[in-house]
Amino acid sequence: MEHVLKQAGDLSGKVVVSCSLPMNADDTGLVIGHTTSGAEELAKKIGRGKVVSAFGTVPSEVFFGVYDARPKAKRPSMAYCGDDDHSKKIAATLITDVGFEAIDAGRLRIARYLEPLALLMGQVAHETRGRLGDRVSI
Ligand SMILES: NC(=O)c1ccc[n+]([C@@H]2O[C@H](COP(=O)([O-])OP(=O)(O)OC[C@H]3O[C@@H](n4cnc5c(N)ncnc54)[C@H](OP(=O)(O)O)[C@@H]3O)[C@@H](O)[C@H]2O)c1
Repeated sequence: MEHVLKQAGDLSGKVVVSCSLPMNADDTGLVIGHTTSGAEELAKKIGRGKVVSAFGTVPSEVFFGVYDARPKAKRPSMAYCGDDDHSKKIAATLITDVGFEAIDAGRLRIARYLEPLALLMGQVAHETRGRLGDRVSI
């Protein structure tokens, strides 16, 4: 995270929408949880309340299908959370533009629940690949 933040440069005034999960080196589990989350740790490092946790609960394989289905399909839901209302509005617009119904899940600490949910989604998506269709979301 330090390396990437250094490359990102000055983030003051920026909204940071993070789909990242705090995974271990071999991607088999979360390294933190329960009392904090990857999104909260990121917010501490950035030093401002502009982080929104979103998009991590959805496997990337579904994005094009959801986007293409926007005009006609019932929208699948996507939860997001954050501490700054303006940043959350921007994230909600992105979520809606991609084709999901944006669900405000509350403060950034709710990322403690979104992140493990993302692992469940990844497990289900990869175990049942080909049967989920293109609208899977929680
Ligand atoms: N894929 C999904 O369905 C999914 C779902 C939920 C959450 N997520 C989360 O989304 C994040 C990205 O996942 P992904 O599947 O897109 O992974 P990915 O395909 O492995 O892509 C990771 C990207 O990060 C870049 N990167 C890695 N280390 C870096 C560093 N030190 N400095 C600068 N760039 C660096 C890589 O650059 P290079 O190409 O140059 O290596 C690559 O572009 C992860 O935190 C993952 O947990 C993914």
